[in-house]
Amino acid sequence: MEIPATALVLLIGAAGSGKSTFAARHFASGDVVSSDQLRARIGESESDQRANEDVFERLQALVQDRLAAGVLTIIDATNTDWMRRTALIGMARHHRRPVIAIVFDLPLEICLNRIAARPRTVRAAVVRRQVSEVRHDRERLDLEGFAAIYVLASTHEVEGASVDIKKGPVVRALSS
Ligand code: CTP
Ligand code: MG
Repeated sequence: MEIPATALVLLIGAAGSGKSTFAARHFASGDVVSSDQLRARIGESESDQRANEDVFERLQALVQDRLAAGVLTIIDATNTDWMRRTALIGMARHHRRPVIAIVFDLPLEICLNRIAARPRTVRAAVVRRQVSEVRHDRERLDLEGFAAIYVLASTHEVEGASVDIKKGPVVRALSS
């Protein structure tokens, strides 16, 4: 995957699809904005969905600052809600930053098994809805304004993925 160094990257996938694991492996932790960390920081537990709107507002504010600064930003949230994706894409467009989607379209059973094996649980009904949203939206993502969409449709593809962060041309002033 080629990712411009000024890009906004949306990880899109159900709970348990491996977004945070992927982010930790391929990106610097300082470049990752995670909805779960924000949720924990504002005093709610990481699995508490009540603070959802607050969390998204905070996430948008952080992303806004990073877009203005022109630094690579990875959003580690499920991003299964197309209205939220549209809001984030609009912000990036305002700052003329490319938006890249990395989609984790993994089977429901894998997501559920992984969640069962970790401390933080998510209700099965919620995961089921997210998995079907990802599958359903996969075909229409190309209408949403992404500069590139990378779909990872199996654990094999996730394992094999490599990320290449492309620095743009360096602008130097001519000395006079
Ligand atoms: N996991 C795994 N093998 C992978 C990827 C993930 O065993 N290749 C495990 C992780 O160690 C974790 C669980 O599966 O315990 C869920 O992965 P995580 O990256 O946390 O999934 P997320 O998509 O980030 O889930 P959430 O939306 O709930 O944060
Ligand atoms: Mg996560």
